[in-house]
Amino acid sequence: MADALKRTVSGMRPTGPLHLGHYFGVLKNWIDMQEQDECYYFVADWHALTSDYAAPERIRAHSAELVKDWLTAGLDPQKCVIFQQSEVKPHAELTLLLGMVTPVSWLERNPTYKEQRQEISDKDLGNFGFLGYPVLMAADILLYLPNFVPVGQDQLPHLELTREIARRFNHLYGDFFPEPTARLTHAPKCPGLDGRKMSKSYGNALSLNDSDEDIAPKIRGMFTDKNRLRKNDPGNPDICNLFPYHQLLSDENKQAEIRQGCTSSMLGCVDCKRFFMENLVAFLKPLRERRAVLEANPNLVQDVLREGNEKARAAAETTMTEVRRRMGL
Ligand code: TRP
Repeated sequence: MADALKRTVSGMRPTGPLHLGHYFGVLKNWIDMQEQDECYYFVADWHALTSDYAAPERIRAHSAELVKDWLTAGLDPQKCVIFQQSEVKPHAELTLLLGMVTPVSWLERNPTYKEQRQEISDKDLGNFGFLGYPVLMAADILLYLPNFVPVGQDQLPHLELTREIARRFNHLYGDFFPEPTARLTHAPKCPGLDGRKMSKSYGNALSLNDSDEDIAPKIRGMFTDKNRLRKNDPGNPDICNLFPYHQLLSDENKQAEIRQGCTSSMLGCVDCKRFFMENLVAFLKPLRERRAVLEANPNLVQDVLREGNEKARAAAETTMTEVRRRMGL
């Protein structure tokens, strides 16, 4: 008998345009997994609302843009289900029900929660919905009974809570939910242009939607190996801000050539940046072609979501029928 198809679920909050950090950190994995698994990918707009409830106006526009970025990057609605969380109401029902079996102490000791309550001062995060963020996330995941959840490293504590909640449900109502595991990308790290984590708010990001005119000055302004002051000084790729991008975008031969040229001071940073620019433009070429198709078909994103929402609802309803029965409803 053939192996049953594995299931994969993941979501992203609609917070703004996607950059290379998102692509190599998570999205590449999503795209790879659509080839082998039954994948459910969704816009986590309710999650965005847990912290931005007082200023929700941008969430809707960002949601459509997020789906556009996904399709641009290579998610294929023929191969995976793309949907919007708030359009699939069972996410709310399962959140409510899982809330019955989730101790508040688990939520309060969640390191991400504690850190954000301390760090973020421009909005009031004392709301119940923000504390309950991991319960909503557990519902998102468990509704689809998945094997895998491709996420970034930062989401691992949340995923651990999902497994704990699943275990507690299974203990009380009999084995039903799986305990899904994370799928992290194997890609090397993609730092920001200044070496810090890539983030739009740090102004150090290369967006998937950047034009050549956007990119050129960003690359020109990048620091490389700060100890290499003159071209004749040998450089050290292992402490250079630029070299990680070659590890992501250049083949092994080119990487070896660059390493050799840099450490022997034959290759200067200006030429090295030119290679990067060429590689980046080549990488972006198919993305730009797909984006042009999307721009020419303004209804496509809505059509993809309509169809995806329906498929997700059907899968989610099947799970909920069993959950309600087990909880005596
Ligand atoms: N918390 C995730 C993030 O901030 C987004 C998310 C919401 C998610 N629900 C999910 C990710 C379910 C994976 C599975 O990026």
